[in-house]
Amino acid sequence: MALKITVIGTGYLGATHAAAMAELGFEVLGLDVVPEKIEMLQRGEVPMYEPGLEELLRKHVAGIEGSTGRLRFTMDWAEVGEFGDVHFVCVNTPQKHGEYACDMSYVDAAFETLAPHVKGPALVVGKSTVPVGSAERLARTLAELSPAGEDAELAWNPEFLREGFAVQDTLHPDRVVAGVRSERAEKILREVYATPVAEGSPFVVTDFPTAELVKTAANSFLATKISFINAMAEVCEAADGDVVKLAEAIGHDERIGKKFLRAGIGFGGGCLPKDIRAFMARAGELGADQALTFLREIDSINMRRRGQMVEMAREALGGGSFLGKRVAVLGATFKPDSDDVRDSPALNVAGQIHLQGGQVTVYDPKGMANAKRLFPTLGYADSAVGAVRGADVVLHLTEWREFRELDPAVLGEAASARVILDGRNALDPETWRRAGWTYRAMGRPTA
Ligand code: UGA
Repeated sequence: MALKITVIGTGYLGATHAAAMAELGFEVLGLDVVPEKIEMLQRGEVPMYEPGLEELLRKHVAGIEGSTGRLRFTMDWAEVGEFGDVHFVCVNTPQKHGEYACDMSYVDAAFETLAPHVKGPALVVGKSTVPVGSAERLARTLAELSPAGEDAELAWNPEFLREGFAVQDTLHPDRVVAGVRSERAEKILREVYATPVAEGSPFVVTDFPTAELVKTAANSFLATKISFINAMAEVCEAADGDVVKLAEAIGHDERIGKKFLRAGIGFGGGCLPKDIRAFMARAGELGADQALTFLREIDSINMRRRGQMVEMAREALGGGSFLGKRVAVLGATFKPDSDDVRDSPALNVAGQIHLQGGQVTVYDPKGMANAKRLFPTLGYADSAVGAVRGADVVLHLTEWREFRELDPAVLGEAASARVILDGRNALDPETWRRAGWTYRAMGRPTA
């Protein structure tokens, strides 16, 4: 009999995981505690923007015409406990207010609520990003609260999906990490991931702490790579170098690689910034804080980029105050192909200029609703041209394809001055200069 799977928490991670499990052929039951989310998902609608996810969902959600019917959603924990052979816990672990540590209350609540309903043999699989040592503790919670006793087992299986590529990354992961304590748990996870593993995804078996650490180590490494190239951008600014050429040249060394070396206003989002902070906090608790002090520097290089972009804008306006100046901001999300504005560098820069008296108008292809909710006092336009109309300077802060395909001549007609600052090193300088624009990017003072 095929395994029956439940997914607890239906954010970016859980909704995608649930749909992907149905795509792999399993019967899936998703649970969330937010009624609006469940109602949307039951209609085959995705509560956020993620390319390809709605199509995948509609292919499997029960009650939708032509669907396989393998995917259902509920708010009933008893139903989840009854249904699942494997329960994936996919709830979020945001940063605590005023602290570096992550907030485990959603994970703890999920385990405490689920466990009493797990009455027979089952594998509970943690996917949330947690401080190392959590799995050990949650295994005890499960053992204490589940009537199934030892038949209810825990595994830790971190997720590495990128927003914007969530469906692809979930169906074709570049590795599966299985933190397990028994052959039975490993066997069940091998069954769940049989299709991607058959296609070549490596399956790495570890203990609990290593599985938890793989996740935070991977995100710390990625953050380090970005801050490294941004530090080089700072030096390029001072030495008249070109960070884009520099990244290209060092990237030819296979040991370094080309990816994640795009200099600009730095990383944001719901993962990298909070993960490196939570990692530092946890290392401190473990007495290993010295090992991670470098992450403090990674964080501060990253946060400095936002201020440097603001200063670059001020300079482009002739120095002095932003008062009375009109600033167009292209991009609000933390990365393209997402509607996520959590800790978005773009919105942060827009906000800083606005708070200093600039008249900021933002446009983003998918992030407008979330941006307005987070920062209602900024000006918003419903197109790039609309945002640029009358602007004294244009800031390109999220590298959407739509912005690369803009016609600089058309934009030039709308703008009050043809000055564009590229905060993502993603536009073609020549195209803009030919249309009469002054083009300036971060880390390339002379390019
Ligand atoms: C990140 C990781 O890449 C995923 O592997 C991980 O699963 C996920 O966090 C998570 O922990 O859930 P994501 O937050 O979707 O994924 O975004 P990334 O693609 O990593 O980009 C993060 C930020 O870095 C963005 O703001 C992006 O603009 C910035 N970035 C990325 C750069 O500034 N330069 C680069 O070269 C690459």
